[in-house]
Amino acid sequence: MRFHIITIFPDIFDSYLKESIIGRAIKNKFISVKFYNPRDFIRGNKSNYKPVDDKPYGGGPGMVMRAEPILKAIETVVKKISTLSRKRVTPQEGNKKILIINFIPSAEKFTTNYAKTISKKYTDIILICGRYEGIDARVDKILKTKKLSIGDYVLTGGEIPAMILVDCVSRQIEGVLGNFDSREEERISSSEVYTRPEVLKHKNKNYKVPKVLLSGDHKKIEDWKKREKNDKINK
Ligand code: ADE
Repeated sequence: MRFHIITIFPDIFDSYLKESIIGRAIKNKFISVKFYNPRDFIRGNKSNYKPVDDKPYGGGPGMVMRAEPILKAIETVVKKISTLSRKRVTPQEGNKKILIINFIPSAEKFTTNYAKTISKKYTDIILICGRYEGIDARVDKILKTKKLSIGDYVLTGGEIPAMILVDCVSRQIEGVLGNFDSREEERISSSEVYTRPEVLKHKNKNYKVPKVLLSGDHKKIEDWKKREKNDKINK
């Protein structure tokens, strides 16, 4: 899976993509993440320089990201994807399938189920990270983007939503997690987990691991986990 991120703040992603499971997934080439900065797609010299954002038509607070630099950035990505496919075509990648996502707080919610679906369906995912009041709506119309929200709260931009999607989709790709079956949603797991010590002393109180987990009775343990699982995602 290749992720292509359209952002004016690519550095935000640096440490996240270097560390742990996602860092290893990139090193081992299960995924790749590339950045395209709309600022690099602004035409003009000093006399006719246009910024990446402008005032909204109809008035209102804040600024809107202009369509042209984003469209040009995405055009570049799409061209690059077509050359990539000529270089290295695996059976799964023979048919390039591109999904373009725009993050908007009020849109349909992103879920693990959706992550599962797109991890199988697409070879390339382009993520547009809006800033300010968002991006010119004509980008969505021209490119028929999928609009997604990551939750009922408003962030300062689409970079954190993009990181969340990269993380959640990547762990659906076989090889990314050490043990594919360790994906929480695939097994019976409770929202409560414990490790050593068996009795945790904290401020003169003892906090014990539930007895059933020490019983060695697998049937009982599975039943307990099932009961505890009731608050899991996407049930
Ligand atoms: N941009 C700002 N807040 C967002 C959210 N909650 N989801 C998606 N994009 C956003």
